[in-house]
Amino acid sequence: MKISVVGLGYVGLVTMAVLSDNGYNLVGIDTDREKIQRLQEGEVPIYEPGLSVLIEKNRKMIEFSNSYDSIKGSEYTIICVPTPTVNDRIDVHYVIESGKKANEIDPNSMIVIKSTVTPGTAKMLSEIINKDILSNPEFLREGNAVKDTINPDRIVIGGRAGVENFSRIWSFTNSKIIMTTNENAELIKYASNAFLATKISFINQMADLCEKIPGADIKVVADGMGMDKRIGRAFLNAGPGYGGSCFPKDTRAIVSFAEDVGVELSIIKCTVNYNEDRIRSLVNRIEKIITDKSSRIIVLGLSFKENTGDLRESKSVELIMELKRRGYDSIKAFDPVTSQFNGIDLFTEVETALEWSEFVIVATEWPSFSDFLKRVKDKHIIDLRRIIDDKTVKLDYGVGLNATN
Ligand code: UGA
Repeated sequence: MKISVVGLGYVGLVTMAVLSDNGYNLVGIDTDREKIQRLQEGEVPIYEPGLSVLIEKNRKMIEFSNSYDSIKGSEYTIICVPTPTVNDRIDVHYVIESGKKANEIDPNSMIVIKSTVTPGTAKMLSEIINKDILSNPEFLREGNAVKDTINPDRIVIGGRAGVENFSRIWSFTNSKIIMTTNENAELIKYASNAFLATKISFINQMADLCEKIPGADIKVVADGMGMDKRIGRAFLNAGPGYGGSCFPKDTRAIVSFAEDVGVELSIIKCTVNYNEDRIRSLVNRIEKIITDKSSRIIVLGLSFKENTGDLRESKSVELIMELKRRGYDSIKAFDPVTSQFNGIDLFTEVETALEWSEFVIVATEWPSFSDFLKRVKDKHIIDLRRIIDDKTVKLDYGVGLNATN
């Protein structure tokens, strides 16, 4: 079976790699000529563990193209194009345009929307091209995308016709499949991301409280909460707030979408506001610790989270910019993947970075960082991710840890 994927970002490329590994012929379409050329030459333009190996392994099953003509003969065309934000609302015109183009090239190909879209988008496209559309939202996490696609917690497919047939292509996952309406599928995606983002703002507020209570530690509180199956331990790691290309955008989008239909999502609004203020509030605390603004500060990790090179809405970048704005003039960073970034001086070796520094701020949870820090004895450490468990390492500040502990 031939399947086309339109839009080759994290979701599109990972979907192609995993489906090709399960015996399907894949065609990937993207309007970015340079990206297609690199992919055709065997280069994978994003850092995602396991992705290049899988694409290389299945080269014979995969084709990359700039032209929608290559869709011809595909059983399914899976749309994974971006949905940018305009005035806090998502702009679905790339989804609609690519759906229309795909339909012109091959009216027999079933269109599947994987991009994150507000409820009603599939219906809108369906009415424009006058045929049924499937919704198949994505729940993969960057940095874990291949594993999440091979073994997802659930698969959600929405549509009026063809749902069951499409579900068969995912049978290799052995995951639960929810078959429902387009609108439910679209909303499950937003509700899930908004809920997870709320869990993070919730635990960060609890971390603020812990910092005021001698003897309290958010990690122990989160572990204790997480043992209750109704709560669960996942996404209860306090830190500098959520970033990335999904949570910040999706939470704002669902709040505006709801407002437009007359509903106030006040819980998600609080989640968003708290998260947007998080770095300013943490830097207030850092200012009390690093009183000399010419101190040499190294920030560990630049991406929005570990195991990715993605810098979109990165709290680490926001932190560095805020520190600079407040007059800290000797601040540099180290990241395991990124070695260049406009406006930020980066070290390429963690050892040199640590040697140079007086203060170390842990901003991203890369597994290797805790080992490096165990070896460092004479530095002031500010741990915004609580990666350091070693009791012999003295923290100047740990998120959610009372200073007297
Ligand atoms: C998120 C969702 O987890 C995926 O299910 C979804 O498919 C994806 O968005 C999407 O909509 O495409 P992702 O943005 O890749 O995935 O990353 P997450 O692992 O969810 O992390 C998001 C942010 O929350 C990061 O900044 C991370 O550091 C932060 N976070 C996460 C915490 O601060 N604490 C936690 O306990 C967990």
